[in-house]
Amino acid sequence: MSTTVTNPPLLQVEDLHVTFDTPEGTVEAVSGVSFSVGAQETVAVVGESGSGKTVTALAVLQLLDGGRISGGRVLWDGEDLAALDRRALRRVRGNEIAMIFQDPMTSLDPLYSVGHQIVEALRLHRRISKRDARERAAELLEQVGMPDPRRRLAAYPHQLSGGQRQRVMIAIALACSPRLLIADEPTTALDVTIEAQILELLGDLQHEYRSAMLLVTHDMGVVAETADRVVVFYAGQVVEQGATADVLSDPQHPYTAALLDAMPTPGTDRAQPLAAIPGAVPPLRAMPAGCRFHTRCARAWDECGHTEPLLHELPGDRAARCLLHRPGQERPLRDALTTKGA
Ligand SMILES: Nc1ncnc2c1ncn2[C@@H]1O[C@H](COP(=O)(O)OP(=O)(O)OP(=O)(O)O)[C@@H](O)[C@H]1O
Ligand SMILES: [Mg+2]
Repeated sequence: MSTTVTNPPLLQVEDLHVTFDTPEGTVEAVSGVSFSVGAQETVAVVGESGSGKTVTALAVLQLLDGGRISGGRVLWDGEDLAALDRRALRRVRGNEIAMIFQDPMTSLDPLYSVGHQIVEALRLHRRISKRDARERAAELLEQVGMPDPRRRLAAYPHQLSGGQRQRVMIAIALACSPRLLIADEPTTALDVTIEAQILELLGDLQHEYRSAMLLVTHDMGVVAETADRVVVFYAGQVVEQGATADVLSDPQHPYTAALLDAMPTPGTDRAQPLAAIPGAVPPLRAMPAGCRFHTRCARAWDECGHTEPLLHELPGDRAARCLLHRPGQERPLRDALTTKGA
Protein backbone atom coordinates (compact mmCIF):
# COMPACT_ATOMS: atom_id res chain seq x y z
CA MET A 1 0.00 0.00 0.00
CA SER A 2 1.32 3.40 -0.87
CA THR A 3 2.00 5.75 2.01
CA THR A 4 2.81 8.72 -0.20
CA VAL A 5 1.06 11.88 0.91
CA THR A 6 0.54 14.33 -1.92
CA ASN A 7 0.60 17.96 -0.87
CA PRO A 8 -2.30 20.09 -1.99
CA PRO A 9 -1.24 22.25 -4.94
CA LEU A 10 0.00 25.77 -4.25
CA LEU A 11 -1.91 27.18 -7.17
CA GLN A 12 -5.09 25.71 -8.52
CA VAL A 13 -6.84 27.15 -11.55
CA GLU A 14 -10.33 25.70 -11.90
CA ASP A 15 -12.45 26.01 -15.03
CA LEU A 16 -11.24 29.57 -15.65
CA HIS A 17 -13.13 31.70 -18.17
CA VAL A 18 -11.96 35.19 -19.12
CA THR A 19 -13.95 37.59 -21.27
CA PHE A 20 -13.23 41.00 -22.78
CA ASP A 21 -15.79 43.56 -23.81
CA THR A 22 -14.69 45.01 -27.14
CA PRO A 23 -16.40 47.53 -29.43
CA GLU A 24 -17.44 44.56 -31.59
CA GLY A 25 -18.95 42.66 -28.67
CA THR A 26 -17.87 40.34 -25.87
CA VAL A 27 -15.18 37.79 -26.61
CA GLU A 28 -13.97 34.87 -24.52
CA ALA A 29 -10.16 34.58 -24.52
CA VAL A 30 -9.91 31.75 -21.99
CA SER A 31 -12.55 29.01 -22.04
CA GLY A 32 -12.55 26.61 -19.11
CA VAL A 33 -8.87 26.28 -18.31
CA SER A 34 -7.84 24.08 -15.35
CA PHE A 35 -4.36 23.23 -14.11
CA SER A 36 -2.35 23.28 -10.92
CA VAL A 37 1.18 24.01 -9.75
CA GLY A 38 2.60 22.14 -6.77
CA ALA A 39 5.18 23.47 -4.31
CA GLN A 40 8.62 23.75 -5.92
CA GLU A 41 7.27 22.39 -9.18
CA THR A 42 7.96 23.91 -12.61
CA VAL A 43 4.94 23.88 -14.90
CA ALA A 44 5.21 25.17 -18.46
CA VAL A 45 2.27 26.67 -20.31
CA VAL A 46 2.95 26.34 -24.02
CA GLY A 47 1.01 27.34 -27.12
CA GLU A 48 1.06 29.60 -30.15
CA SER A 49 0.54 33.33 -30.10
CA GLY A 50 -3.01 34.27 -29.10
CA SER A 51 -3.79 31.01 -27.28
CA GLY A 52 -4.51 32.76 -23.97
CA LYS A 53 -1.28 32.19 -22.04
CA THR A 54 -0.73 35.77 -20.90
CA VAL A 55 -4.42 36.37 -20.18
CA THR A 56 -4.40 33.28 -17.95
CA ALA A 57 -1.26 34.45 -16.11
CA LEU A 58 -2.78 37.90 -15.57
CA ALA A 59 -6.06 36.37 -14.40
CA VAL A 60 -4.18 34.31 -11.81
CA LEU A 61 -2.80 37.54 -10.34
CA GLN A 62 -6.19 39.30 -10.70
CA LEU A 63 -4.41 41.82 -12.95
CA LEU A 64 -6.65 41.69 -16.01
CA ASP A 65 -6.81 45.04 -17.74
CA GLY A 66 -10.18 45.53 -19.40
CA GLY A 67 -11.09 41.87 -19.01
CA ARG A 68 -12.83 39.89 -16.30
CA ILE A 69 -12.97 36.41 -14.88
CA SER A 70 -16.40 35.31 -16.04
CA GLY A 71 -16.25 31.80 -14.64
CA GLY A 72 -14.19 29.44 -12.52
CA ARG A 73 -11.74 30.37 -9.81
CA VAL A 74 -8.11 30.69 -8.84
CA LEU A 75 -7.10 29.12 -5.54
CA TRP A 76 -3.84 30.09 -3.85
CA ASP A 77 -3.00 27.73 -1.02
CA GLY A 78 -6.66 26.78 -1.07
CA GLU A 79 -7.86 30.38 -0.83
CA ASP A 80 -9.97 31.99 -3.56
CA LEU A 81 -7.95 34.98 -4.81
CA ALA A 82 -11.02 36.79 -6.15
CA ALA A 83 -12.45 36.88 -2.63
CA LEU A 84 -9.46 38.72 -1.13
CA ASP A 85 -9.60 42.45 -0.43
CA ARG A 86 -7.07 44.79 -2.00
CA ARG A 87 -4.66 44.64 0.91
CA ALA A 88 -4.64 40.86 1.14
CA LEU A 89 -4.22 40.64 -2.62
CA ARG A 90 -1.24 43.00 -2.49
CA ARG A 91 0.32 40.80 0.13
CA VAL A 92 0.01 37.79 -2.15
CA ARG A 93 1.28 39.65 -5.22
CA GLY A 94 4.99 40.19 -4.98
CA ASN A 95 5.27 38.62 -1.56
CA GLU A 96 4.04 35.15 -2.42
CA ILE A 97 3.55 35.20 -6.19
CA ALA A 98 5.87 37.30 -8.35
CA MET A 99 5.66 37.84 -12.08
CA ILE A 100 8.37 38.39 -14.64
CA PHE A 101 7.03 39.92 -17.85
CA GLN A 102 8.13 39.29 -21.39
CA ASP A 103 9.55 42.74 -22.05
CA PRO A 104 11.50 44.25 -19.14
CA MET A 105 11.35 47.70 -20.73
CA THR A 106 7.60 47.87 -20.12
CA SER A 107 7.83 46.89 -16.46
CA LEU A 108 10.99 48.77 -15.43
CA ASP A 109 10.52 52.49 -14.85
CA PRO A 110 12.91 54.38 -17.16
CA LEU A 111 13.05 57.34 -14.74
CA TYR A 112 14.54 55.50 -11.77
CA SER A 113 17.82 53.67 -11.21
CA VAL A 114 17.56 49.90 -11.00
CA GLY A 115 18.86 50.07 -7.41
CA HIS A 116 15.99 52.36 -6.46
CA GLN A 117 13.48 49.99 -8.08
CA ILE A 118 14.80 46.93 -6.27
CA VAL A 119 14.86 48.83 -2.97
CA GLU A 120 11.25 49.92 -3.53
CA ALA A 121 10.21 46.32 -4.20
CA LEU A 122 11.89 45.21 -0.97
CA ARG A 123 10.40 48.01 1.12
CA LEU A 124 6.91 47.55 -0.28
CA HIS A 125 6.61 44.18 1.40
CA ARG A 126 9.15 44.17 4.20
CA ARG A 127 9.99 46.30 7.21
CA ILE A 128 13.56 47.00 6.28
CA SER A 129 15.73 50.13 6.52
CA LYS A 130 16.81 51.90 3.33
CA ARG A 131 20.41 51.03 4.02
CA ASP A 132 19.69 47.32 4.54
CA ALA A 133 17.46 47.29 1.48
CA ARG A 134 20.31 48.76 -0.59
CA GLU A 135 22.66 46.13 0.75
CA ARG A 136 20.12 43.41 -0.10
CA ALA A 137 19.59 44.92 -3.57
CA ALA A 138 23.32 44.63 -4.28
CA GLU A 139 23.25 41.02 -3.07
CA LEU A 140 20.30 40.26 -5.34
CA LEU A 141 22.03 41.80 -8.36
CA GLU A 142 25.06 39.71 -7.60
CA GLN A 143 22.87 36.60 -7.32
CA VAL A 144 21.33 37.20 -10.74
CA GLY A 145 24.80 37.41 -12.23
CA MET A 146 25.01 41.14 -12.82
CA PRO A 147 28.61 42.17 -13.40
CA ASP A 148 29.87 44.81 -10.94
CA PRO A 149 26.55 44.76 -9.00
CA ARG A 150 27.27 47.62 -6.57
CA ARG A 151 28.05 50.06 -9.34
CA ARG A 152 25.07 48.83 -11.38
CA LEU A 153 22.65 49.90 -8.61
CA ALA A 154 22.98 53.44 -9.93
CA ALA A 155 22.33 52.47 -13.56
CA TYR A 156 19.12 53.39 -15.39
CA PRO A 157 17.31 50.70 -17.42
CA HIS A 158 18.39 52.18 -20.78
CA GLN A 159 22.04 51.87 -19.75
CA LEU A 160 21.74 48.08 -19.51
CA SER A 161 21.60 45.38 -22.16
CA GLY A 162 18.41 43.36 -22.72
CA GLY A 163 19.83 40.40 -20.80
CA GLN A 164 20.90 42.65 -17.91
CA ARG A 165 17.44 44.25 -17.73
CA GLN A 166 15.90 40.80 -17.56
CA ARG A 167 18.31 39.98 -14.71
CA VAL A 168 17.08 43.09 -12.87
CA MET A 169 13.48 41.94 -13.37
CA ILE A 170 14.39 38.58 -11.89
CA ALA A 171 16.09 40.32 -8.94
CA ILE A 172 12.91 42.35 -8.32
CA ALA A 173 10.75 39.23 -8.59
CA LEU A 174 12.97 37.42 -6.09
CA ALA A 175 13.19 40.37 -3.71
CA CYS A 176 10.56 38.92 -1.40
CA SER A 177 11.36 35.22 -1.89
CA PRO A 178 8.05 34.35 -3.56
CA ARG A 179 6.68 30.83 -3.35
CA LEU A 180 5.59 31.00 -6.96
CA LEU A 181 7.32 32.76 -9.83
CA ILE A 182 5.23 33.37 -12.94
CA ALA A 183 7.54 34.01 -15.89
CA ASP A 184 5.73 35.10 -19.07
CA GLU A 185 8.08 34.38 -21.98
CA PRO A 186 11.01 35.77 -20.00
CA THR A 187 13.52 35.16 -22.76
CA THR A 188 11.80 35.79 -26.08
CA ALA A 189 13.34 39.26 -26.45
CA LEU A 190 16.83 37.82 -25.96
CA ASP A 191 19.26 36.07 -28.27
CA VAL A 192 19.79 32.34 -27.93
CA THR A 193 23.00 32.44 -25.85
CA ILE A 194 21.58 34.92 -23.33
CA GLU A 195 18.29 32.97 -23.30
CA ALA A 196 20.13 29.83 -22.21
CA GLN A 197 21.94 31.77 -19.47
CA ILE A 198 18.74 33.33 -18.15
CA LEU A 199 16.88 30.00 -18.14
CA GLU A 200 19.74 28.39 -16.26
CA LEU A 201 19.77 31.27 -13.80
CA LEU A 202 16.01 30.96 -13.23
CA GLY A 203 16.40 27.24 -12.61
CA ASP A 204 19.27 27.76 -10.15
CA LEU A 205 17.48 30.52 -8.24
CA GLN A 206 14.23 28.59 -8.15
CA HIS A 207 16.11 25.72 -6.57
CA GLU A 208 17.84 28.01 -4.10
CA TYR A 209 14.64 29.84 -3.13
CA ARG A 210 12.63 26.61 -3.21
CA SER A 211 9.91 28.32 -5.21
CA ALA A 212 7.55 26.92 -7.79
CA MET A 213 7.50 28.30 -11.32
CA LEU A 214 4.81 28.77 -13.92
CA LEU A 215 6.73 29.33 -17.12
CA VAL A 216 4.87 30.67 -20.15
CA THR A 217 6.55 29.94 -23.46
CA HIS A 218 5.85 29.16 -27.10
CA ASP A 219 9.01 27.11 -27.37
CA MET A 220 8.92 23.32 -26.86
CA GLY A 221 12.72 23.38 -26.54
CA VAL A 222 12.38 25.57 -23.44
CA VAL A 223 9.72 23.21 -22.07
CA ALA A 224 12.01 20.23 -22.56
CA GLU A 225 14.85 21.93 -20.71
CA THR A 226 12.95 23.36 -17.76
CA ALA A 227 9.54 21.92 -16.91
CA ASP A 228 8.38 19.03 -14.72
CA ARG A 229 4.92 19.21 -16.26
CA VAL A 230 3.52 20.85 -19.34
CA VAL A 231 0.10 22.33 -20.08
CA VAL A 232 -0.55 22.80 -23.81
CA PHE A 233 -2.91 25.65 -24.74
CA TYR A 234 -4.81 26.04 -27.98
CA ALA A 235 -7.34 28.81 -28.67
CA GLY A 236 -8.08 29.49 -25.00
CA GLN A 237 -8.34 25.86 -23.91
CA VAL A 238 -6.04 23.23 -22.44
CA VAL A 239 -5.67 20.56 -25.11
CA GLU A 240 -3.12 18.36 -23.38
CA GLN A 241 -1.30 18.08 -20.09
CA GLY A 242 1.06 15.69 -18.38
CA ALA A 243 4.62 15.12 -17.22
CA THR A 244 7.05 16.78 -19.64
CA ALA A 245 8.95 13.59 -20.47
CA ASP A 246 5.70 11.72 -21.27
CA VAL A 247 4.13 14.49 -23.33
CA LEU A 248 7.26 15.17 -25.33
CA SER A 249 8.07 11.53 -26.07
CA ASP A 250 4.48 10.42 -26.70
CA PRO A 251 2.09 13.31 -27.39
CA GLN A 252 -1.60 12.38 -27.20
CA HIS A 253 -3.07 15.43 -28.94
CA PRO A 254 -2.45 16.13 -32.62
CA TYR A 255 -1.71 19.79 -31.79
CA THR A 256 1.06 18.83 -29.35
CA ALA A 257 2.42 16.47 -31.96
CA ALA A 258 2.39 19.27 -34.53
CA LEU A 259 4.18 21.62 -32.12
CA LEU A 260 6.85 18.99 -31.57
CA ASP A 261 7.18 18.34 -35.28
CA ALA A 262 7.65 22.07 -35.78
CA MET A 263 10.55 22.13 -33.31
CA PRO A 264 13.75 22.93 -35.10
CA THR A 265 16.42 20.28 -34.93
CA PRO A 266 19.58 21.38 -33.10
CA GLY A 267 21.80 23.66 -35.12
CA THR A 268 19.01 25.24 -37.18
CA ASP A 269 17.62 28.75 -36.81
CA ARG A 270 15.17 28.98 -33.90
CA ALA A 271 13.72 32.31 -34.95
CA GLN A 272 10.46 30.79 -36.25
CA PRO A 273 10.00 27.62 -34.24
CA LEU A 274 6.31 27.10 -34.95
CA ALA A 275 6.16 28.14 -38.58
CA ALA A 276 5.62 24.60 -39.76
CA ILE A 277 2.01 24.21 -38.52
CA PRO A 278 -0.18 25.27 -41.44
CA GLY A 279 -2.84 27.91 -40.76
CA ALA A 280 -3.24 30.11 -37.68
CA VAL A 281 -5.04 30.13 -34.32
CA PRO A 282 -8.65 31.12 -35.17
CA PRO A 283 -9.73 34.61 -34.08
CA LEU A 284 -11.85 34.70 -30.89
CA ARG A 285 -14.86 35.94 -32.78
CA ALA A 286 -14.72 33.13 -35.34
CA MET A 287 -14.04 30.03 -33.25
CA PRO A 288 -14.88 26.94 -35.33
CA ALA A 289 -17.62 24.61 -34.09
CA GLY A 290 -16.60 21.21 -32.74
CA CYS A 291 -12.90 20.88 -31.97
CA ARG A 292 -11.19 24.28 -32.11
CA PHE A 293 -8.16 22.70 -33.78
CA HIS A 294 -9.99 20.64 -36.41
CA THR A 295 -9.44 23.14 -39.24
CA ARG A 296 -5.67 22.60 -38.94
CA CYS A 297 -5.58 19.02 -37.74
CA ALA A 298 -4.00 16.31 -39.85
CA ARG A 299 -6.06 13.69 -38.00
CA ALA A 300 -9.50 15.33 -38.15
CA TRP A 301 -12.54 13.51 -39.53
CA ASP A 302 -16.09 14.77 -40.18
CA GLU A 303 -17.30 14.56 -36.61
CA CYS A 304 -14.49 16.84 -35.37
CA GLY A 305 -16.27 19.71 -37.11
CA HIS A 306 -19.36 19.47 -34.92
CA THR A 307 -18.62 17.50 -31.72
CA GLU A 308 -16.69 19.43 -29.10
CA PRO A 309 -14.12 17.13 -27.49
CA LEU A 310 -13.81 16.92 -23.70
CA LEU A 311 -10.49 16.91 -21.87
CA HIS A 312 -10.23 13.14 -21.45
CA GLU A 313 -8.19 11.80 -18.57
CA LEU A 314 -5.55 9.31 -19.62
CA PRO A 315 -3.39 6.87 -17.66
CA GLY A 316 -0.27 8.32 -16.00
CA ASP A 317 -1.93 11.54 -14.78
CA ARG A 318 -2.32 12.84 -18.31
CA ALA A 319 -5.19 14.37 -20.26
CA ALA A 320 -5.95 15.26 -23.87
CA ARG A 321 -8.87 17.11 -25.46
CA CYS A 322 -9.44 15.02 -28.57
CA LEU A 323 -12.15 12.69 -29.84
CA LEU A 324 -9.40 10.14 -30.45
CA HIS A 325 -9.43 9.61 -26.69
CA ARG A 326 -13.16 9.36 -26.18
CA PRO A 327 -13.91 6.22 -24.22
CA GLY A 328 -15.00 3.51 -26.64
CA GLN A 329 -13.49 5.36 -29.57
CA GLU A 330 -12.88 2.70 -32.19
CA ARG A 331 -10.13 4.58 -33.96
CA PRO A 332 -6.63 3.41 -33.03
CA LEU A 333 -5.21 5.47 -30.18
CA ARG A 334 -1.74 4.26 -30.02
CA ASP A 335 -0.43 4.85 -33.52
CA ALA A 336 2.28 7.44 -33.34
CA LEU A 337 1.02 11.00 -33.62
CA THR A 338 4.43 12.43 -34.37
CA THR A 339 6.06 11.95 -37.71
CA LYS A 340 9.48 12.17 -36.09
CA GLY A 341 10.81 9.07 -34.33
CA ALA A 342 10.30 9.22 -30.56
N1 LIG B 1 -7.49 43.66 -23.57
C1 LIG B 1 -7.94 42.80 -24.47
N2 LIG B 1 -9.07 43.02 -25.17
C2 LIG B 1 -9.54 42.14 -26.09
N3 LIG B 1 -8.92 40.97 -26.39
C3 LIG B 1 -7.79 40.70 -25.73
C4 LIG B 1 -7.22 41.57 -24.76
N4 LIG B 1 -6.09 41.01 -24.26
C5 LIG B 1 -5.95 39.84 -24.92
N5 LIG B 1 -6.96 39.64 -25.79
C6 LIG B 1 -7.14 38.49 -26.69
O1 LIG B 1 -7.07 37.30 -25.93
C7 LIG B 1 -6.44 36.28 -26.71
C8 LIG B 1 -5.32 35.65 -25.92
O2 LIG B 1 -4.30 36.62 -25.76
P1 LIG B 1 -2.96 36.32 -24.95
O3 LIG B 1 -2.23 37.60 -24.86
O4 LIG B 1 -3.28 35.64 -23.69
O5 LIG B 1 -2.20 35.32 -25.91
P2 LIG B 1 -0.80 34.60 -25.66
O6 LIG B 1 -1.05 33.15 -25.67
O7 LIG B 1 -0.15 35.18 -24.46
O8 LIG B 1 -0.01 35.00 -27.00
P3 LIG B 1 1.54 35.45 -27.19
O9 LIG B 1 2.31 34.17 -27.35
O10 LIG B 1 1.49 36.24 -28.45
O11 LIG B 1 1.96 36.27 -26.02
C9 LIG B 1 -5.99 36.93 -28.01
O12 LIG B 1 -6.92 36.63 -29.02
C10 LIG B 1 -6.01 38.39 -27.68
O13 LIG B 1 -6.26 39.15 -28.83
MG1 LIG C 1 1.56 36.31 -24.16
